[in-house]
Amino acid sequence: MTMAELDLRRVYGAYPTGVAAVAGLIGGRPVGLAASSFVPVSLDPPLVSVCMAHTSTTWPLLRDLPHIGISVLGAHQEETGRRLGARGGDRFAGVPWRSTANGCVLIEDAAAWYDCTVEQQFRSGDHDIVVLRVHDLDAAYGTPPLVFHASRFHQLR
Ligand SMILES: Cc1cc2nc3c(=O)[nH]c(=O)nc-3n(C[C@H](O)[C@H](O)[C@H](O)COP(=O)(O)O)c2cc1C
Repeated sequence: MTMAELDLRRVYGAYPTGVAAVAGLIGGRPVGLAASSFVPVSLDPPLVSVCMAHTSTTWPLLRDLPHIGISVLGAHQEETGRRLGARGGDRFAGVPWRSTANGCVLIEDAAAWYDCTVEQQFRSGDHDIVVLRVHDLDAAYGTPPLVFHASRFHQLR
């Protein structure tokens, strides 16, 4: 990594985000990844977005699914965030999840969840900006979110 890339990672990381699980059912099994790039975009129509790296091997599997689940992880789900963001291994081992009738994979006890379809994708540098339409959603307002800041997981204090 060049110095410029290191600086970008360090300074981008100064902006705190949540951690979302982006996941769907493929051949009856859960497939997904962690994303700190999740952002709500529009109320009417209801749209949210994530940025997916061109190096991701999981996004090409998810992007053609009819529906994709997005779960906003709770503060108690740091281990789940680590697992879903790891490069190898079985990401869903020990992670409680459920699937919906239309094939979304949602993480149990998450702070919020969305049932989405891909609306638009834009190539932007080394990522795709993916805009998703929201079809269903809910939040557990008593559950504080997991926070990602400076390359580390945090809990709100
Ligand atoms: C906290 C955290 C947030 C992440 N956010 C993103 C993200 O927004 N976009 C992305 O493309 N990858 C993100 N990643 C990396 C993916 O979760 C995953 O590790 C990466 O896509 C490589 O796995 P894959 O080849 O299975 O896609 C994040 C990882 C972690 C640990």
